[in-house]
Amino acid sequence: MSFQKTITLKVNGVNYTRTVEPRLLLSDFIREDLLLTGTHVGCEHGICGACTITFNGDSIRSCLTLAVQADGAEITTVEGMGSQENMSKIQQKFQEHHALQCGFCTPGMLATCEDMVKKYPLTSEDEIRDGLSGNLCRCTGYQHIVDAVQAVVKEDKRDVS
Ligand code: FES
Ligand code: FES
Repeated sequence: MSFQKTITLKVNGVNYTRTVEPRLLLSDFIREDLLLTGTHVGCEHGICGACTITFNGDSIRSCLTLAVQADGAEITTVEGMGSQENMSKIQQKFQEHHALQCGFCTPGMLATCEDMVKKYPLTSEDEIRDGLSGNLCRCTGYQHIVDAVQAVVKEDKRDVS
């Protein structure tokens, strides 16, 4: 017997109601049911951070979350962060600082970085590297990603001073 549950959630500003299996991972729901394939899946074990999304204002790993846990949630994936013509600030800085190469880690990196700069008063490179420690990148060596985050932090400080 299969027990299914109907969930309603908002993703990138759009309301969805879907009936899902209780064991369905949120990452698979986002990619396969909603066809938002910008959320990547690497390890499916909470290690690589590729599947990181924004969930009710926090960055979380969607491979460690069940779709049924997202009932009533508000989610932003990389598709909802900005567009090519109208990028979010962190996306702009990633572009300016060449903070991506193959791009596999990038959607998750962007979600983590956005959460970091929004919530924490990052001042040092060490703090930024600490904040990035849950997201693995095989290509960039991280320095350009750190530079992009520092650029956002600097600009935000200027904005509020
Ligand atoms: S796919 Fe979720 S942490 Fe690796
Ligand atoms: S840019 Fe290739 S894994 Fe990060």
